[in-house]
Amino acid sequence: MSGGMGENRMQRIRVTASRTYDVCVQEGLLARAGACVAGVCRASAAALISDETVFALYGETVKASLEAAGFRVVCFLFPAGESQKNLTTYGEILHFLAACRLKRSDVIVSLGGGVVGDIAGFAASTYLRGLSHVQIPTTLLSAVDSSVGGKTAINLDSAKNQVGTFYQPALVLCDPLALRSLPEQSYREGCAEAIKYGVMGDERFFSELLDTPVCEQLAHVIAHCVMIKRDCVAADEFDLGNRRLLNLGHTIGHAVESCSRYTVSHGYAVAIGMTMITRAAWKRNICKEETLDRLCAILERYGLPTETEYTADALYEAARSDKKISASTLELVLPEDIGRCRLEQIALTEFPAWLRDGGAR
Ligand SMILES: NC(=O)c1ccc[n+]([C@@H]2O[C@H](COP(=O)([O-])OP(=O)(O)OC[C@H]3O[C@@H](n4cnc5c(N)ncnc54)[C@H](O)[C@@H]3O)[C@@H](O)[C@H]2O)c1
Ligand SMILES: [Zn+2]
Repeated sequence: MSGGMGENRMQRIRVTASRTYDVCVQEGLLARAGACVAGVCRASAAALISDETVFALYGETVKASLEAAGFRVVCFLFPAGESQKNLTTYGEILHFLAACRLKRSDVIVSLGGGVVGDIAGFAASTYLRGLSHVQIPTTLLSAVDSSVGGKTAINLDSAKNQVGTFYQPALVLCDPLALRSLPEQSYREGCAEAIKYGVMGDERFFSELLDTPVCEQLAHVIAHCVMIKRDCVAADEFDLGNRRLLNLGHTIGHAVESCSRYTVSHGYAVAIGMTMITRAAWKRNICKEETLDRLCAILERYGLPTETEYTADALYEAARSDKKISASTLELVLPEDIGRCRLEQIALTEFPAWLRDGGAR
């Protein structure tokens, strides 16, 4: 993947939540991570947390940069994959931090995708009641989504992300060059989330994604998505109102993921969920057919799925057991047009009809 417009200035997006921090986007930032971390905290030690895959690619660069900036660096690595985002790994991280005598004034630096960021963030928010966390997202999904907003999490057997905290990082460093090594599927998943931002609130950005492949404008896409998410989060840090527009495609998407026992990946499930809710919205005269056509066109261009085999009944059952769904109602994010969505509460019992309108058998 190429870096884009040819220029390489740092884009700095300031996020204001319960704490204020910058998301920096620039090619080559990994090698300057140490100086950036030193700019936001007075730590003497840095715990670098990563998965084995990402560390093999970029770990030494970041470690050397932290050492050059004067930090004592200790590294905790775990095998890559969602299944590692669990209590056992979390416990191991805590024991590691204690064994390395990390203090409250020290810093945790997470290098990796959403799995690393979520579990390292949870450890950072709880160890010694909280120490600074610098996120270095290395997947497109984590750059445009999980590294901003301050949600940390681990999974329990009963549900994904069932345990966690709201804990804002001290700094987020995105290096688009580090995304060049992403597997195709992971890249596409990130594109699905970027497209979501366009559908949710920015028609012009949607058109940009249609006209120019994300991989040719990575820095711009990351910075722009972060700004959209920033604006939602700033208005609503604790997920009580408009932040929930970010859930576009996610209610049905989660049901698809759960029905597939997580063999359908998150970004693909979101692509399916966005298509289904938009089709249902069109059937109910909430948007025009053109809105659905444009959405399907962009998803297909990015090699993303738009349909599922699961029946309305199976998806309904999956949704009913979702922790985010309170007793009897469900909130849908409904596209009125590309770039404009609204929230609507429905009775849970109405959901199967929405799923059928969305195209499920
Ligand atoms: N906190 C939030 O707000 C939030 C939001 C969305 C998703 N999430 C969480 O994020 C997780 C998914 O994130 P993800 O898709 O980044 O998954 P991930 O962290 O598992 O990364 C996907 C795979 O790509 C590899 N990888 C990462 N960076 C790479 C690179 N630059 N080059 C080559 N390989 C690389 C990883 O080793 C891993 O195998 C889920 O656990 C989800 O719950 C959290
Ligand atoms: Zn998502």
